[in-house]
Amino acid sequence: MWTNNCPAIQIRFIYLALQIIYMAIVAPSLLAANFLKLEEECKMLNESEADWFHLDVMDGRFVPNISYGPMIIEFIRKTTRKPCDVHLMILEPEKFADEFKNAGADHVTVHIEACPNLHRNIEQIKSLGMQAGVAINPHTPVTSLIDVLQDIDIVCLMSVNPGYGAQKFIPHSLSKIRELRKLIDNWNLPVLIEVDGGVTLENAKDIVAAGADVLVDGNTVFQSKDPKATISQLRSIETAKTL
Ligand code: DX5
Ligand code: ZN
Repeated sequence: MWTNNCPAIQIRFIYLALQIIYMAIVAPSLLAANFLKLEEECKMLNESEADWFHLDVMDGRFVPNISYGPMIIEFIRKTTRKPCDVHLMILEPEKFADEFKNAGADHVTVHIEACPNLHRNIEQIKSLGMQAGVAINPHTPVTSLIDVLQDIDIVCLMSVNPGYGAQKFIPHSLSKIRELRKLIDNWNLPVLIEVDGGVTLENAKDIVAAGADVLVDGNTVFQSKDPKATISQLRSIETAKTL
């Protein structure tokens, strides 16, 4: 099982030509988990083909909801070796970077809308040895990332307005994914496109075909009858990147 952020690959020989097909990275969001049995839910994800644990931190200021913080992440961290992908929907994330590092975060994603000194936030996250991500809300243009794309590892493209799970995917997000994919490929950057919000078994194929690498899934996974099977279904979707 992969424990870093390399996408799963399949190697095929087609007419003696080597073709590498990348499979989507699946990052279930624990916001939709049953917190009364959190350890069990983490165990399920560990046994599943999930690649990352997506952890949504909300402060009730940047978004109109409050979720959990470093303390809960520290407990979750104890249950897994899979990357903890921390999504900060908070103001002044620079005040908490150390705490998330100490809690065991592997990736920390901040919102461009919450960071007037975004480049400094990115440098801080990387100086702590974590992967740096930047999230953009549905109203924020992809072009706002142009001057930091070469400094980051992940773009979290919000396909819902942040703050809640189980919302409907905003269709315009597909053209934003395509635009971002073009930018990243043109510059040949090793940046992963993570799509967050309203990802389902029905729309996941289109999202990956548009250029997404990572699928965040809250309710689709935790509300499904067989979460492990749902994760495998999502993970079997091939990304458009073929060598
Ligand atoms: C929303 C969060 C998402 C959310 C995804 O603000 O960032 O990660 O939990 O949940 P679903 O997949 O149910 O939309
Ligand atoms: Zn999220």
